[in-house]
Amino acid sequence: MKNIYVTTAIPYVNGAPHIGHAMDYCLADTYARYQKMLNNNVRLQVGTDEHGNKIFAKAAELNVPVEQYVKDNSEKFRQFIHKLGVSYTDFVRTTDVEHERRVQEIWQKLTPYIYKNKYEGWYCDGCERFVTDKEYEENHGVCPDHQKAYQQLSEENYYFKIAAFKDRIREAIESDTMKILPAFRKKEILRLLEDSPDVSVTRPTTQLTWGVPVPGDDTQVMYVWIDALSNYITVLGYPERDIADWWPAAAQFVGKDILRFHAIIWPAMLLGLGLPLPRVITTHGFILANGQKMSKSIGNVVDPVEVLERHGVDAFRYYFLRHADTFNDADFTWDKYEEAYNNELANDLGNLVQRLATLARKNEFQLGEFRVADLPAEYTNYMDNFEFSKAFDYVWERVQAINRRIDEEKPWALAKSGDKTQLDKCLTGLVNELLNTNEMLKPFIPETAQKIAEIMTDPITPPATPLFPKA
Ligand code: MSP
Repeated sequence: MKNIYVTTAIPYVNGAPHIGHAMDYCLADTYARYQKMLNNNVRLQVGTDEHGNKIFAKAAELNVPVEQYVKDNSEKFRQFIHKLGVSYTDFVRTTDVEHERRVQEIWQKLTPYIYKNKYEGWYCDGCERFVTDKEYEENHGVCPDHQKAYQQLSEENYYFKIAAFKDRIREAIESDTMKILPAFRKKEILRLLEDSPDVSVTRPTTQLTWGVPVPGDDTQVMYVWIDALSNYITVLGYPERDIADWWPAAAQFVGKDILRFHAIIWPAMLLGLGLPLPRVITTHGFILANGQKMSKSIGNVVDPVEVLERHGVDAFRYYFLRHADTFNDADFTWDKYEEAYNNELANDLGNLVQRLATLARKNEFQLGEFRVADLPAEYTNYMDNFEFSKAFDYVWERVQAINRRIDEEKPWALAKSGDKTQLDKCLTGLVNELLNTNEMLKPFIPETAQKIAEIMTDPITPPATPLFPKA
């Protein structure tokens, strides 16, 4: 039995959750449940990122006190995470006083690598990121992700010596000691690392007050990413608690836009603190709406709660875990969603369960002792390599194969012929195969898998409603 610590990116609370935010949760929760299935102890962190310019400006624009604004939005994320059925163990808010105190202690431990300097350059509020001159030129002064002109900064602040750790970070990435997934992202990061300058890690209070104060200098607050990245260890009680039981994390889940912070600044901080690096940082793509980036100005933002309420949580998890390739961008359209629900969940799986349960009931079939088979290597290989959509495809092929097997073995004909022994043998084979396949569904669609297990081990009580009623 191992201790497995799994983390998710903590979203900014400058609005309600959108559908893209679901990816970290669906993937991390699937991994966490899979690890539990392997009998490991799992800790899964979630939380909200509540400081910085973007949030402060949004609260001001709405004329709401910022403390109230972040509290209300954090609550929306908490509810969303619940609705998604995420089996988290820890929820961190970066405005928690304990978190803030711990971040200040982290800062103090990092002071040997922090120096004061003048920052002359650019900043993107949307990314909460200092932008180099080279990037400024490449993007003609406008952030491609936020379509906003970069802001020019000229300010005194503190820098963190990335240079002191570059070699060790490169080595860790190259040797997969800190494994960056997928491989094409690892290559990107190695290139980016070469050009990475030391980073600014504070903002003067003349520019920003909504942040963790820098210990010993009341003219500066911490750059939001220093505060945010620390959450992964402050939530474990660092620095006053020994975190060796859980840290290094087995897996950190992030979106492609924030890998650079997690694969460069974060490891530098950890090395500065003398802590080990995470074992895996796994990067998912973006969810697009009708092939386009979701944005408030285009007006194509999909409300995740509406999607969740349409066919329930497992239809949601199904779509984003199977039809969104784990490592690449994926599209959401209502048509595709309905199609996946009707053809796959309702037909392939729902009907299969209904058919087998009805046959069992009609023929007074009692399943003898059910022994869970070992998980197939094909499945565990995909899961161990974080290739969740491929693992899910594999499970779905098994679901479809059971449907074909029913058609081939024709249990209804055996029932008609009165050969009870043959019929029992046939049903035992089919139900066992379904229950074993169901084991592999557990991490992905846990509620459904639970229901299937109940229905198939007690086929006498008919299920009240079909698993996936046709829309
Ligand atoms: N606050 C930072 C993360 C700090 S982690 C120490 C942040 N917040 S965010 O709200 O912008 O994004 C949170 C997560 O959602 C990130 O993993 C990000 O990549 C992901 N996504 C945001 N939009 C997305 C899509 N449209 N699709 C998929 N994931 C997306 O970054």
